[in-house]
Amino acid sequence: MTHFDFDTVIPRRATHSAKWAYFDEDVLPMWVADMDFMSPPAVLEHVHERINHGIFGYTLDYPELRETIASRMQRLYQWDVKPEDIVFVPGMVTALNLFARTYGKNGDGILMQTPVYGPFLTVPPNNGRFAVMADLRSVPTGDCTFTYEIDFDVFEKAITPQTTSFFLCNPHNPGGRAFTESELQQIANICLKHKLLICADEIHSDLLLNGTKHIPIASLSPEIAQNTVTLIAPSKTYNMPGLSCSIAIIQNKELRHQFEMANRNMGLHVNIVGLVGATAAYQHGDEWLAALLDYLSANRDILVAYVQDHLPMLKTTVPDATYLAWLDCSALALPENMGASEYFVKEGRLALNPGTFFGTGYDRFVRLNFGCPRSLLMDGLERLKTAIEKTSVAVGSGQM
Ligand SMILES: Cc1ncc(COP(=O)(O)O)c(C=O)c1O
Repeated sequence: MTHFDFDTVIPRRATHSAKWAYFDEDVLPMWVADMDFMSPPAVLEHVHERINHGIFGYTLDYPELRETIASRMQRLYQWDVKPEDIVFVPGMVTALNLFARTYGKNGDGILMQTPVYGPFLTVPPNNGRFAVMADLRSVPTGDCTFTYEIDFDVFEKAITPQTTSFFLCNPHNPGGRAFTESELQQIANICLKHKLLICADEIHSDLLLNGTKHIPIASLSPEIAQNTVTLIAPSKTYNMPGLSCSIAIIQNKELRHQFEMANRNMGLHVNIVGLVGATAAYQHGDEWLAALLDYLSANRDILVAYVQDHLPMLKTTVPDATYLAWLDCSALALPENMGASEYFVKEGRLALNPGTFFGTGYDRFVRLNFGCPRSLLMDGLERLKTAIEKTSVAVGSGQM
């Protein structure tokens, strides 16, 4: 097996990286969800080759990517997707916005499971809709670990006559859960019963740790497929979100036509470098991805062990998928009127995503991105410890 290097720290500060440019130079960024690794060699090679051609005109279509995705869905999930079921979009958040404005009408509610990736909350009001929250249930799994479960009563009771669609995030960000077949089936049954159209954001579906399985909700039955817009992308998996290439799979012809028209009317198109990069990633990226997943699984285990050994007053998820850990810092005696993320920047020089990005009431939570070389992860965990040692609760137990 080829050796892929995930250990070398590649300087990113002078590259206009949002993650690295936002904070002061002495702050270690472990926030925005991109990784500090190069994309797979095959992506670099194909993108270089295309760039060397030197002409970057308009693109009509990219049949090779359609075919690659269709056969990938068959191979990974035995899901029968046709090349013509696919619509290219220049980003997942773009696709969520397009979904919201294409289907339903002003004043409709969009159901979602909170805490959830920030733009889920802002897309509905951006498009004359409103967000309907069904909180996930937090469940302890150990002294320092917890997970999220779906409370189906809460989920169904949140639905009102105005609720017309559901934004699924699977695997879930920030919860780290890859939902099981039984959970997805129950979600789909409730959506069908209440006539909610499903928008399934499955951007994290390749980032499966320690052999976790992903099931696309639309693959469960043809009836569910007819009621679902599935969004996937190579962007998180192969670390190429800046190339802006995402994919909507819409098997219902009428829904697809409406989405395509909205896409076209907005003048949206995916740039050629993104299409070339996505095709190379999906065609030649498997071996790199397998190595990445081993590396991320080890990073996750190191993080969880570090919390257990050195930061037992925190609680962390043990994500099945994604490179994102969600930390509950509510047991820390943080200064009043200061969110946890603000505190860690100030006292630890460590940038994490504020919990408030994922919903109200999460100001004592932070999200930590462990998609980085191990030395940076260790540096980040030590910064976290330094900051926590400055609070009035001692590391280990009791008072300082
Ligand atoms: C669930 C989810 N959806 C969408 C996105 C963003 O996708 P894009 O950059 O393609 O808009 C992210 C990025 O973190 C995400 O976690």
